[in-house]
Amino acid sequence: MRKRVRTIANVKSPSEVWLAGIRDYAMSVFRCGADSIHGPRHWQRVEAFGLRIAESSGADLTVVRLFALLHDSCRQSDGHDIDHGPRAAEMLDRIVPSVFALDRDRFELLKQAIRLHTSGQTTGEPTIGTCWDADRLDIGRAGITPSADYMSTAAGKEIAALNHPLS
Ligand SMILES: [Fe+2]
Repeated sequence: MRKRVRTIANVKSPSEVWLAGIRDYAMSVFRCGADSIHGPRHWQRVEAFGLRIAESSGADLTVVRLFALLHDSCRQSDGHDIDHGPRAAEMLDRIVPSVFALDRDRFELLKQAIRLHTSGQTTGEPTIGTCWDADRLDIGRAGITPSADYMSTAAGKEIAALNHPLS
């Protein structure tokens, strides 16, 4: 893919073209294929849940959308791969800013959200909590009902209680 290096600092919401370039990059490194349970359709649903939660959580929309695209991109298989979060966080060190630029605060939030998204913990940090909740709300694709107990945000808990209102 042609490299896109454009800073997103001081932009509340990233452009669709900018995000499409990052999605292309994520697909270029993703090993599990377009039909993977952890693949692009999951990324899309995580984004939708994330944007919905962000309406009330106050999360940074850029971080939420980047999380959706990148958090599972370094999975090596659809099976047990507990290190895919830390692996994707390390990838960020390599691709920011060679593939895309991001201001320092957002970079650190995104990196932490990605590195720890498999840890099972919850957080009071609104942007990271929004990212984790959005991912966990899509667990229904694996036949598991999302639980409010594993949600960090009030909106995440509400959506979990409603049992997949977006599906
Ligand atoms: Fe995920």
